[in-house]
Amino acid sequence: MHRRTFIKNSCTACLSFTALSTLVSSCVTTKYISGRLGKDGLTIGKDEFNVKQKGGTAYSSFIIVRNDALLFPICVYRFNDSEYTALWMQCTHQGNELQASGDVLQCPAHGSEFNNKGRVIHGPAASGLRSFPVIATNNELFIDLRKQS
Ligand code: FES
Repeated sequence: MHRRTFIKNSCTACLSFTALSTLVSSCVTTKYISGRLGKDGLTIGKDEFNVKQKGGTAYSSFIIVRNDALLFPICVYRFNDSEYTALWMQCTHQGNELQASGDVLQCPAHGSEFNNKGRVIHGPAASGLRSFPVIATNNELFIDLRKQS
């Protein structure tokens, strides 16, 4: 195979793979819920993460709580049945609302990215996201809005 043909074929395969990956990831729907807002925080059901599949139940890695009483949504990431993070979806650079893309929260304004623990992956944001304690009980999660880190 000639060098030029090899490069052309490799680039075509790479672009096809990238396009397919984007298509597949865009097919995954993001779940939005409003939760129950109380005096001290938000309560959501653990079963909101459930995804029914043939042969059992899988779990979404995150859901977004969007409540009219809150200025920004909160992205809740599930790591296992007892470990969660609740992240305020406001960029720490200039305050834009973030978008969730799998385990990464992205800012459409200037490209900052944060991981599922709220830490900065890419700037220009210099500090991590506000996060709230999540208390897991048997069936519910309580997101304590009185405390943040
Ligand atoms: S406001 Fe988010 S990167 Fe600038």
